[in-house]
Parts: sequence; C-alpha cells; structure tokens
Amino acid sequence: MNDFFNKDIISIQDLDKAQLEVIYSETDKILEMESSQRREIARGKALGYLFFEPSTRTRLSFQAAMALIGGTSFGIADANSSSIQKGESLADTVKIMAGYSDVLVLRNSLDGSSRYAAEISEKPLINGGSGTEEHPTQAIQDLYTIRKEKQKIDGLKIGIIGDLKYGRTVYSLLYGLGNYDVDVHLISPESLKIRSDSTYDIKKGLSYTESTSLDEYIEDLDVLYVTRIQKERFPDEEEYMKVKGSYVIGQDIIKKMKDDAIILHPLPRLDEISSDVDSSPHAKYFKQAEYGKFTRAALLGLILNKDGF
Ligand code: NCD
Repeated sequence: MNDFFNKDIISIQDLDKAQLEVIYSETDKILEMESSQRREIARGKALGYLFFEPSTRTRLSFQAAMALIGGTSFGIADANSSSIQKGESLADTVKIMAGYSDVLVLRNSLDGSSRYAAEISEKPLINGGSGTEEHPTQAIQDLYTIRKEKQKIDGLKIGIIGDLKYGRTVYSLLYGLGNYDVDVHLISPESLKIRSDSTYDIKKGLSYTESTSLDEYIEDLDVLYVTRIQKERFPDEEEYMKVKGSYVIGQDIIKKMKDDAIILHPLPRLDEISSDVDSSPHAKYFKQAEYGKFTRAALLGLILNKDGF
C-alpha cells in the first residue's frame, strides 16, 4: 500500500523528505504518460471542492488535475452560492460533500479549518489553504518547480520576500524546505516578518536570516520567491497602506541577479513583480502555476489508488 492512500493532506509538516520525493517522481511519471494511460488513474472517481475564499489556480488546477487523470470534479467555488449562506455549518457541508465524492479539497479563511474538517470527513481531505496557516499543495508545487528548474534543491540560496506574516504559502514552503540543506533569507518590512508562534517549528528544519533589504542578498540568490501583501488579512487598512508596494521586482533587480537565478511567485501577482519581468528567462512563475496541475494529479493519484499508479 502506498503511504498516501486515503490520507488527508493538512500540513506539509506531516510529510517527510522521502514522501515528498515520491510525489515529485510520480509527477514526472504523469508528465511522461500517454493521455489514455493517465485517464485510468482516477477513472470513476470524484473530487469535491469547497472553496470559501477566492481562488483561481488552486481550485482550477485541482479540477484540471482530476480531468487529466480521468476523474470528475464539482463543488462550491463561492460561499454565497451554497447553503452556508443560509446558516448551514461547515461540519454539515463537509459531511454532505464527503457523501458525494472520493476526495475533498477545502479552502477556508480560518486557521485550523482543514484539520477540523478532516476529522469530520469520512473521505480524505486536502487543505487548499487554511487561513494564514498553511497551503501544503502550493509548497509541493513550489518545491517541484525548484527541483525541475534548478535540477536540485540541496545547496541552493533561497530568498523569500514580501508578506511573510500573513502569507500561508510561505509557512508551508519553509516547513517543506526544512527537509533540505538550503540557505534561506527572509526579506520583509519589519511589520511583516514571520510570526513568532511558527518560528520554533520552522527552526527545527532550517536556519535563516531576516532582513528588510533585498539588496543585501540579491546577487547571491538562486531562487527569489516573491509574495503578495495579503491585504484581506490585515486587521486594519492603515497598516496595509504603510507596507503596500514595499518591494517591486523590476529590471533594476533583475540586472543584479545571477544569470541562472529563478523568480517564483504563488500568484496572484499585484504590483510586486513588474509585468515586463514576465518575458525574462528568470521568470518561472507561470510555469510554476502549470506544474501545479501535475503535482496535484500525482497527489490525487496516490490518495485514490491503494497500490499507486
Ligand atoms: C496563494 C494563497 O491563496 O495563499 N494563492 C495560491 O493559492 N496560489 C497566495 C496568495 O493569495 O497571495
């Protein structure tokens, strides 16, 4: 039996390095398969999605992944169109969806929502973003992109810049990077440094520097991971206005980068990367988004098939 069969994916901290490597190699396998072969992986299976926060890539890439491997998907893309609007509880909604599908994906603005829902669901549940806490499948896709584009993860110098306080992708990525031998530099405004309640867990796996200046590190970085300032998570608009536009990756920054350094971003991008960077060979964020379809297909294939595929 494979490790992932019927398992929930709530935190990337629940996966070890060997398990991450299995997902990467199964992703490579799916990329190489004939489409008729891929469609056997989830034939007759259904993915139910419950998205109570906006999403483009996560929800659509899960749907695209399920279609790629021959399954089907349906769900709630907007809380206002579901009975949650009438006052139905998350618990009841999850129970109903578990009855209709073989695997669930949940996105919710509350920390702890996925772990709570997984306890209620009789079917495996994947965290598609829980509050400011974690976004494990994004991190799997980020790690896969680094491995694919740099041919390795160990030994790299990785800068993570932007909203490190509220950006859940950052936490999952840091926990995931804890399995590798990497130098991490965290760059953010003082008020958006990573939350102190998470540093204990992050430091179990890696050491990092913290700074407000990208200039200090830019010339040495192999990977620059840029994040959006998470406006919707600020308790106060005034605080957001103070940090809005803190960092903008433009041609001036690109010029300082190593020739083979790559720029990643979980997207959506607002103004933190100028659109004229998109055509630069450093820009890998659209490719990163595309890889998400394949890493999710691999993960779904493993969760749905006892002996793998
Ligand atoms: C991220 C998220 O929802 O946390 N988006 C995504 O899933 N790719 C990042 C963000 O919203 O900034």
